[in-house]
Amino acid sequence: MKIARFSRIGFIMASAGSAVGLGNIWKFPYITGEYGGGAFVLIYLLTVLLIGFSIMIAEMLIGYLGRRDTVTSFEELAPKHKNLWKFAGFQGLSGLFIMIFYSVVIGWIFNYIVTSLVYLPSTVKEAEVTFTTMLHTEFWTQLFYHTLSFIIITYVLHKGLKGGIEKMNLFLMPALMIILASMFAYALTLDGFSKAVHFMFSPDWSKINSEAFVTAVGHAFFTLSLGMGAIMTYAASLEKGANIVKSAFWVVFLDTIIAIVAGLILFTFLYQYGSSPAKGPGLVFISLPAVFYEMGIIGNIFAVLFFVALAFAGLTSSVSLVEPMVQYFIDRFGWSRLRATISMGLFFWLFGVLAILSNIDGAKEYLTWGSRNFFDWIDYLTAAVMLPIGGFLMAVFVGFVMEKSKVEAVMRPQLKWAFEPWYFSLRYITPVAMFIVMLSLMGVL
Ligand code: TRP
Repeated sequence: MKIARFSRIGFIMASAGSAVGLGNIWKFPYITGEYGGGAFVLIYLLTVLLIGFSIMIAEMLIGYLGRRDTVTSFEELAPKHKNLWKFAGFQGLSGLFIMIFYSVVIGWIFNYIVTSLVYLPSTVKEAEVTFTTMLHTEFWTQLFYHTLSFIIITYVLHKGLKGGIEKMNLFLMPALMIILASMFAYALTLDGFSKAVHFMFSPDWSKINSEAFVTAVGHAFFTLSLGMGAIMTYAASLEKGANIVKSAFWVVFLDTIIAIVAGLILFTFLYQYGSSPAKGPGLVFISLPAVFYEMGIIGNIFAVLFFVALAFAGLTSSVSLVEPMVQYFIDRFGWSRLRATISMGLFFWLFGVLAILSNIDGAKEYLTWGSRNFFDWIDYLTAAVMLPIGGFLMAVFVGFVMEKSKVEAVMRPQLKWAFEPWYFSLRYITPVAMFIVMLSLMGVL
């Protein structure tokens, strides 16, 4: 039923575009700052290498063999209990849920692109006021930019796999890399650079507790876009005979390099201009604008470029967050692409409005349950519950449910001697790791 296929490079760029997102440039640096640098980075890198890479291959394999939307792919590849396993395919829903706050954050970024053109806060205090004022009082501004992000994402998706998603990624990903590379080149000339390297790469184990550990593992999954059917959906449009291992390698490699480069840039700037790295989620929206101010005119240019890069990273991830459910409605219900994209878009747009309201004074009181408001609940539920469940199901599915001969036929020629270790990791290491991450993020451990 599907005719459009990614080109090889298109698939790699689209998957890398999915993986490289707000997680790399916004979240990774600030959690690295919070958990003390080097040791945390090391745990994250090991997880990416030992678990992330193997799950990435598994997810691509399900898509590649299933060749349909996530629900149908699980259904068709399960030798028995098809009706039960198809529910694993609803991990595509997590992407739509993530979009509820992702789109709002992209909206903030758009807003920052525009304001950085003319204004940068001169102190961290001032930057904080600017950010919290937007967050708590500026409903219409946030709504405007959230709507803009909804329009762009829906437009690209309705253009389809090749004409929309592939094209966008082939343009935005290199642009993102060029922007980061030029900022990195500048960072290399500053004294703060060696401090940044030291901070990120010399492990201080005293800062590592179980929470840091689980955060690192959880982030490795989030940043690789695993456990939500996004990579799977893209892989369903891979050409026959494509090399899954090579593609997975490139995606993991690009994602990791970009996270590290972004971290080095940010920490260099922060050290150079006298801010400390541990600043929490406000790092790029609060500490960074003040640092850009210190840099003078080049700071203005960098501020705009930086937020443009961040927006690009966010948009390429967004399309892959929505595509699984779009594909589901096209494949299973015969909807037109236009109808599917607009419906899915309206879903995250509408709930996104609630996410904005849940931070606005006067409304947030009605949208807060327990310790979290609506925005935070969605963030928490997707990252702490849905994503580990998705990862767990996928590992168990490829490791235990699918016939080994089928898995082996595709993967052994590509993995060669590494086939058995890969299979072992899917069966015994990943499910246990996911289970621990889930329990601890849910606060059970
Ligand atoms: N990887 C993205 C980032 O780093 C976020 C993300 C998580 C994602 N799961 C996803 C993106 C699924 C696309 C699909 O920001």
